Amino acid sequence: MAKVKTQYVCQNCGYISPRYLGRCPNCNEWNTLVEETVAPKAASLSAPSLRRNGIHDNKPEPIDKVAFHRENRFKTSMEELNRVLGGGVVPGSLILIGGDPGIGKSTLMLQVSGQLSKAGKILYVSGEESASQIKMRATRLGVNGDQLYVYPETDMDVIKSTISELKPDAVVIDSVQTMQIPELQSATGSVAQIREVTADLMNIAKGQGITVFVVGHVTKGGAIAGPKILEHMVDTVLYFEGDLHHSYRILRTVKKSFWVD
Ligand SMILES: Nc1ncnc2c1ncn2[C@@H]1O[C@H](COP(=O)(O)OP(=O)(O)O)[C@@H](O)[C@H]1O
Ligand SMILES: [Mg+2]
Ligand SMILES: [Zn+2]
Repeated sequence: MAKVKTQYVCQNCGYISPRYLGRCPNCNEWNTLVEETVAPKAASLSAPSLRRNGIHDNKPEPIDKVAFHRENRFKTSMEELNRVLGGGVVPGSLILIGGDPGIGKSTLMLQVSGQLSKAGKILYVSGEESASQIKMRATRLGVNGDQLYVYPETDMDVIKSTISELKPDAVVIDSVQTMQIPELQSATGSVAQIREVTADLMNIAKGQGITVFVVGHVTKGGAIAGPKILEHMVDTVLYFEGDLHHSYRILRTVKKSFWVD
């Protein structure tokens, strides 16, 4: 049996070192390296996308035979959101919504979910609030609809089978830091967990054509735990910013893979 290996992973940028370092040589942050155990080879998740999801439906095909369908974006009635998304929501895209705790990410995503649910089936997964807390907020915001499903859950394996059954058009994951893959030994919210959770979400988006919104908290340093990895894995990165004491909020696009302009 292969023995369990230890490595140190920077929780800010994902840099991996075989030994402990006080300062990350990659992002220069102090005290961000955390010990993580690497599972033995057999249980290793080094090819998570293929091993865990078994999506092998793609075959090589001549380019002349490839069906071309123009992306049809669906628009929300929030003009600013459509704009930062490059004209609307692209089906099958993975969108990161980052921002400080308390800035209004959950509120925004619940409103967006309510709107999108007029056009399709939406699954709002929350690892932070109970169904009745979400219902209370929804009532206050005037969000409703029998196509909007609220789902308090954090276990990615359970969430994936629910998605296969329910077949929603879009999924909201609130937040990536609260989700966990039980087979992984690393703590919830660690870089290892976030990386695998995001890989799973990418597979759901690309493999099933489901739009996935991932909420991610930003830490004091201005970064989501494992943010650099996240930013590279998703299609679009939006940051939700504003003054906590005033009532304006700004959505800023950091990365966009589906820009049309
Ligand atoms: N656009 C907004 N303008 C003013 N207040 C807001 C807005 N969005 C949310 N809030 C308020 O801010 C608080 C935190 O919102 P929440 O959505 O829970 O933040 P997050 O999910 O980012 O932690 C709530 O009390 C909510 O009512
Ligand atoms: Mg929230
Ligand atoms: Zn680092």
